[in-house]
Amino acid sequence: MGSVTEIRRGTLQEQTFYEQVGGEETFRRLVHRFYQGVAEDPLLRPMYPEEDLGPAEERFALFLMQYWGGPTTYSDNRGHPRLRMRHAPFTVDRAAHDAWLKHMRDALDDLALPEEHDQTLWKYLTYAAASMINTPD
Ligand code: HEM
Repeated sequence: MGSVTEIRRGTLQEQTFYEQVGGEETFRRLVHRFYQGVAEDPLLRPMYPEEDLGPAEERFALFLMQYWGGPTTYSDNRGHPRLRMRHAPFTVDRAAHDAWLKHMRDALDDLALPEEHDQTLWKYLTYAAASMINTPD
């Protein structure tokens, strides 16, 4: 997923996707905007067990940063992601999936990343969201 960048000393170094899109700040902005949508969503908001969405926002941001090649703080704190297992307590049906993706689309639109980066993230997020469905209609 990296691209090759020439750095000053003339050596070649791989740049992760995490770095290409702007690192921690970009992922924090994305996830913060996403949770603003969740906070207002009548279907999704009641699914979140904690009153304060801050800790959930933190976990999700750290997960995405790690996934795209940033620091491994997520797994240092939480262990292996096992995302399907961690979603098992929640009813993730088609409606929840659609609402989740809608807020994610809004958040990505707000970020206004270059088209190629936007598409890379969106493709991953739509694929991951479909794989999280655990309750048939
Ligand atoms: C498809 C609809 C989805 C719904 C309705 C949903 C809902 C939830 C809920 C209710 C939680 C618990 C909040 C918390 O206390 O952390 C959670 C946690 C989490 N979700 Fe989702 N989620 C969805 C899709 C996804 C996708 C596609 C990803 C990854 C790309 C993801 C990543 C995470 C992560 C990393 C956590 C925290 C896991 C941990 O405990 O360490 N979710 N989600």
